Amino acid sequence: MFNNYLDLVAYFGIGGAHPGGFSLTQSILKDEKIQPYESVLDIGCGTGQTAAFLAQGFGCQVTAIDNHPVMLKKARERFGENASPVLVIEGDAQQLALPDNSFDLIVAESVIAFTDISKTLTELSRVLKSGGRMICIEMAAEQSLSNELRKKAYSLYGVSEILNEQEWTLKLQQAGFKQVEIIDTPSELLNTEVTDINPSKSIVMDLYDLWDEHNRFITQNHKFIGFRVFRCFLP
Ligand SMILES: C[S@@+](CC[C@H](N)C(=O)[O-])C[C@H]1O[C@@H](n2cnc3c(N)ncnc32)[C@H](O)[C@@H]1O
Repeated sequence: MFNNYLDLVAYFGIGGAHPGGFSLTQSILKDEKIQPYESVLDIGCGTGQTAAFLAQGFGCQVTAIDNHPVMLKKARERFGENASPVLVIEGDAQQLALPDNSFDLIVAESVIAFTDISKTLTELSRVLKSGGRMICIEMAAEQSLSNELRKKAYSLYGVSEILNEQEWTLKLQQAGFKQVEIIDTPSELLNTEVTDINPSKSIVMDLYDLWDEHNRFITQNHKFIGFRVFRCFLP
């Protein structure tokens, strides 16, 4: 599906394009005790910064999936340069061409909110092994949102719902993640400095304008829309 915001991330080639950025990823994953024999899925991998870190840092078997061709091209370039053994698959998180019970760990960093949330969670629960765990970093409403703000966020990010913490927890549980924890991190959306960038040769002006609009939106609305980090388990 066409999404201007995701095009912005893709054409500028922004790594760590999720709340908290790559430093949050590193601090969460270092506590995960990921083993070399574990198979890990980075769903909606973007330009592949986290997938490369997983493969290099833990020596685990990493699969990186995205459905945006520009993201995938940049992710493949990164994995090639870093000699990271990552399996890259073009695929839709809502309908994965993968067998059931495939992964020990799934990482989803600012991805699920851009999809049909229930469909994607059901799919991720299907491909996760029984006893497996999933970490997701997703935007979340901090308080009741006015219709105007909701409409603005939907059109800016191309999303069709913004869940609060309780709604995320319920959807995760409905998808089979019986145990849902919230990792204690700052939850405010901030304009984090972009430190990993691989811009395309030609970028339309509209995407520069959209980046400004995104930054303005975050500055104005960080009290209303933040994020949560969920760590959840399949029985
Ligand atoms: C905000 S970006 C985050 C990228 C990356 N996880 C990161 O943190 O840098 C969201 C990513 O999800 C991908 N995405 C969105 N919908 C998807 C879908 N249905 N299937 C697979 N990937 C999807 C986008 O192409 C994009 O790479």
